Amino acid sequence: MSTLRVLVLTGASRGLGEAIAYEAARQGFALVLNARHTPRLVRVAKKIEAFGVPATIVAGDIALPMTARRLAQAAQQAFGRVDVVVNNAAIIQPIGPIAQLDPYAWTYNWQVNVLGPAMVVQATLPMLRASQGRVINISSGAGVKPYPSWAPYATAKAALNHFTRILAAEEPTITALALRPGVIDTDMQRFIREHGASAMPRELYERFLAYRETGRLEDPRDVARVVVALAARAPRAWSGAFLSYDEPRVQALLAEHEEQRPPEEGRSSGKGRESAGVS
Ligand SMILES: NC(=O)c1ccc[n+]([C@@H]2O[C@H](COP(=O)([O-])OP(=O)(O)OC[C@H]3O[C@@H](n4cnc5c(N)ncnc54)[C@H](OP(=O)(O)O)[C@@H]3O)[C@@H](O)[C@H]2O)c1
Repeated sequence: MSTLRVLVLTGASRGLGEAIAYEAARQGFALVLNARHTPRLVRVAKKIEAFGVPATIVAGDIALPMTARRLAQAAQQAFGRVDVVVNNAAIIQPIGPIAQLDPYAWTYNWQVNVLGPAMVVQATLPMLRASQGRVINISSGAGVKPYPSWAPYATAKAALNHFTRILAAEEPTITALALRPGVIDTDMQRFIREHGASAMPRELYERFLAYRETGRLEDPRDVARVVVALAARAPRAWSGAFLSYDEPRVQALLAEHEEQRPPEEGRSSGKGRESAGVS
């Protein structure tokens, strides 16, 4: 069995997930990486080689329970353990008024955003119990705020938050968290800007345009630091919580963690959240 700490990560091919993959590798985690797009996953795994830690890829749609089982099998075969699961993969589409949404697209949204994370936890649970590990479910402010036109995504994130609470209640040896990561400069935000004009209420759409225009989108690398700090040292007492990346106890944990974090070339270490909270 490997003595490396092993982190299973979904949605690792771009956006926040890609940044989490590099940050976790920099901090010495071995990785099991998932997304649908094989060439992009291979590119991420190759970049991880530079950090001197092993990475295994499992390409596949997380909407399928088979993908969760393949992730658990890959972790078992490559490393014999799982210390952390980061359920990061998600889709925002379909967006639009409830009256007009395509029921099949809505079903797929819940399969990716709710059942996918639940199946990854189920498949890895024996290894998480053995390591007394951590689960970090990447959630959203939309899971607690009623944004019109986001019903599938927002209700999926609300379900993910409650799944996190039930997991914490059922499994006292693991630490289960849901995290609101802020509004991040990724393809998901690009999708909102490109497709939201006709699907979202004007005021809400303009708010998302303004995040970019006023430079208030988070750098995925900064959010990744928060995620990896939680992966490394979130206390059991927090299990079941819906945390915000910029709340004081999370930023305090990040600051404590970053004191020991290896510096990243070309960037200053120890940056906490400096701009105002958004979303
Ligand atoms: N960006 C924001 O402002 C924001 C705000 C709040 C919460 N979040 C949350 O943060 C997390 C990351 O979002 P992001 O902004 O980085 O999104 P993104 O840029 O759209 O990236 C999504 C990632 O998930 C993967 N993915 C999508 N569908 C998948 C599927 N069916 N099976 C497996 N992998 C899949 C994508 O890769 P492939 O296409 O290769 O599969 C990609 O790696 C999500 O949980 C999101 O809800 C984001």
